[in-house]
Amino acid sequence: MEVVPLADATEVADRGADVVEALVRSRGQSAVLGLATGSTPLPTYRELIRRHEAGSGPSYDGVRCFTLDEYVGLAADHPESYRATIARELTDPLGIPADRVHGPDPAPDGLATAGERYEEALVAAGGVDVQILGIGADGHLAFNEPGSSLASLTRLKTLTEETRRDNARFFDSIDDVPRHVLTQGLGTILRARHLVLLATGAGKAAALAAAVEGPLSASCPASVLQLHPHVTVLADAAAAEKLARRDHYREVYDAKPPWQGL
Ligand code: PGA
Repeated sequence: MEVVPLADATEVADRGADVVEALVRSRGQSAVLGLATGSTPLPTYRELIRRHEAGSGPSYDGVRCFTLDEYVGLAADHPESYRATIARELTDPLGIPADRVHGPDPAPDGLATAGERYEEALVAAGGVDVQILGIGADGHLAFNEPGSSLASLTRLKTLTEETRRDNARFFDSIDDVPRHVLTQGLGTILRARHLVLLATGAGKAAALAAAVEGPLSASCPASVLQLHPHVTVLADAAAAEKLARRDHYREVYDAKPPWQGL
């Protein structure tokens, strides 16, 4: 795992955008992006859009995207569905058409098979090249709450009260936050070829330290990242605050040979 302690959220967004652009430049039309929702990736997405609109970004023609998760129980046209959110915050501004942006299907009559169908779609696409991830204050990854199987695949899950409270800011009240979601499993996430975890703010410091330096445990789902051969953690100073080896990570990053990239 490569942990990159950065100064602030702007640097996290810059490096995050660099990784996505490098992938799209190298894989071209066959690039498959894994996208996260939530607040943390938004500065990265805005930076990608800024570069795209300035004409310095790569072509996104043919690029396919897969989201991590989706609420169950929202109206199909609800603005807080993750399908609508990712279109608004990233893929529409980049000109990636809706038929190349995939998410788990929350239609009520297909929930029993939605996980399996999503796994099949991911395999058919050749798998995810770069997966953007955030981390929950309780250590969740996508909507895999503490206790989730480290080998889990896409399935229906129930949100914890803490996550519903965290996400209430996107809704009129906590009562409007769905209780159920479809989420890629931890085993699904491990199949992506490069995982990029973005963490900003003091509220993520304890969870990040547990994920990176604590024991591998379903009690901290993000600790599953320790099993993956290519993980990049981009953390601002506040989120990196509780990392015991922070100075070493910085030294490693500063001494990286320029050809190596992230
Ligand atoms: P956030 O959510 O980026 O909005 O903090 C992260 C997560 O819950 O995974």
